[in-house]
Amino acid sequence: MFSRTYLLAGALLTRAKLRILPAKMETTMKSTELIMQDHTILRRGMDILDGMGKKLEDGERIEVADVTTLLRFFRVFGEYHQNMEEKVFFPVLLCAVSEQIPVHVLLSEHVQELMITAEIEEALKSKRGMSFFQATRRLSSLLRNHFDQEDAIFPDLTRRWLSKEQDSEVADRLAKIHKQPEIPANFSRLECKYVSRRDRAPMPSQRLARRHTVGAR
Ligand SMILES: [Fe+2]
Ligand SMILES: [Fe+2]
Repeated sequence: MFSRTYLLAGALLTRAKLRILPAKMETTMKSTELIMQDHTILRRGMDILDGMGKKLEDGERIEVADVTTLLRFFRVFGEYHQNMEEKVFFPVLLCAVSEQIPVHVLLSEHVQELMITAEIEEALKSKRGMSFFQATRRLSSLLRNHFDQEDAIFPDLTRRWLSKEQDSEVADRLAKIHKQPEIPANFSRLECKYVSRRDRAPMPSQRLARRHTVGAR
């Protein structure tokens, strides 16, 4: 009886902890908010790219102008996002964190992203449909995995290794160079065309970026 009660109490305690832990884990550090917000916007771009690939797979036509618009978004916004991580965020992490972190893996994935984007641009220019399709698939898989990894490790690392002051300082530096995506209006149009309503991601609130920008002045 005792052992059953004990086990039951243990199970209840574990469940109580599980209820508390996720709430605590959800606390996002300021320095990672803008980065994760960018990931949400970039994932929307990936949804459109996947939708284009799906149409090609189904033998449907896609507009070259739409692909060009989307690739320009990945070039401009994607490169800015990489810069923000490489010039501000990664150096801070490497300085503050005294454990192995996979920054070299993330950096090599940044390089791969640029290379595959160039491949897609080239396939589009030379009208090689199959190469275009295969390269978009590779880019989608690479980026989705990359963002998932960063979303999983950045908040945890910053929470454990940065003080509140360091976190605010990094958030202010990121906000100063933060850039809104160039084509938010086109996104909705492209989503209507290439992404089913069920799969559309919500646009993250822009208030967060504005708050950081105002705070950084
Ligand atoms: Fe990254
Ligand atoms: Fe990122």
